[in-house]
Amino acid sequence: MKAIVYTQYGPSNVLQLKEVAKPVPKEYEILIRIKATAVNSGDVRLRKADPFAVRFFFGLRKPKINILGSVFSGEVESVGAEVKRFKVGDQVFGHTDMHFGAYAEYICVPEDSSLALKPSTISHNEAASIPFGGVAALHFLKKAMIKENQKVLIVGASGAVGSAAVQLAKSYGAIVTAVCSTANIDLVKSIGADKVIDYTKEDFTQLGEIYDVIFDAVNTISVSRSLKLLRKNGTMILSAAGLSETFQGLWAGLSSHRKVLTGLIHHKADDIIFLKGLVEAKKFKPVIDRTFPLQQIGEAHAYVEQGHKKGNVAIEV
Ligand SMILES: NC(=O)c1ccc[n+]([C@@H]2O[C@H](COP(=O)([O-])OP(=O)(O)OC[C@H]3O[C@@H](n4cnc5c(N)ncnc54)[C@H](OP(=O)(O)O)[C@@H]3O)[C@@H](O)[C@H]2O)c1
Repeated sequence: MKAIVYTQYGPSNVLQLKEVAKPVPKEYEILIRIKATAVNSGDVRLRKADPFAVRFFFGLRKPKINILGSVFSGEVESVGAEVKRFKVGDQVFGHTDMHFGAYAEYICVPEDSSLALKPSTISHNEAASIPFGGVAALHFLKKAMIKENQKVLIVGASGAVGSAAVQLAKSYGAIVTAVCSTANIDLVKSIGADKVIDYTKEDFTQLGEIYDVIFDAVNTISVSRSLKLLRKNGTMILSAAGLSETFQGLWAGLSSHRKVLTGLIHHKADDIIFLKGLVEAKKFKPVIDRTFPLQQIGEAHAYVEQGHKKGNVAIEV
């Protein structure tokens, strides 16, 4: 099968289209013919080994996993002898968690992994754009125990995680203020934001509003500045925190009456099935900025690396 392989960390041209062995499903696995994947901010970090700490987990001198890509949508081509939940021909979408391998024509995944039937109302490109931002936003909003009528501030509302967080917070009945640039105001309004702050014109930390939940999806403002906008017993979500913000957040959580949520998320079937239900209920719409063919994945990486994408960048396989 064809796959995008990288054998060294570096710029987008380390990604090479190669012929590799097609995987064979084990007894509890399904083989999926991938129709679409996506380039996420996490893939760019792994390709570049940025931050350096990536190397401690994914290979010190060169990557131990040679095919990136964590999201996929496609068709079940064959199943292992013990598989019960899926059958040949099912249209499915999901996330590989830390296993990767979705920049390829085929992938094998356990049937109980982060996997669900694709809603028939959306394309494979759209389905592949859901799990990365969707599951991250869902994980943190559930942990924050978000409730109806709570005031929620989402910083970075136009990215993959942010655009999912806006829609999920709305689906829980929250009142959402989204922070984005001028170019993305229409987008964040179209996915449900009640109020929008254009960060190129206004400093949201100076507007005097207090929130029940602050979801910082892009890590562009200091923890101490944004904490001042959080009510007592409120929750701060730092989904994009680096090491220093994680420690600041943990300290803030211990020293103030505020809950701070951070850390890496794990992908499980329940969350993807929940998101499928929301799509079917028309409460969640995947946001796609651009689509590239698999052969041009280097260009897609270079675009995502600029940090200005709107929602997701889909890859047609
Ligand atoms: N904790 C976890 O397990 C987990 C899971 C998923 C992702 N993440 C992390 O979350 C971060 C975000 O991921 P993502 O994929 O959502 O990023 P992304 O899609 O690349 O975010 C880019 C968006 O952020 C906007 N933006 C840039 N600067 C901004 C600012 N100062 N204020 C508001 N918006 C701004 C950009 O638009 P403009 O430039 O036009 O403003 C663009 O729309 C990454 O660091 C990723 O590693 C963590």
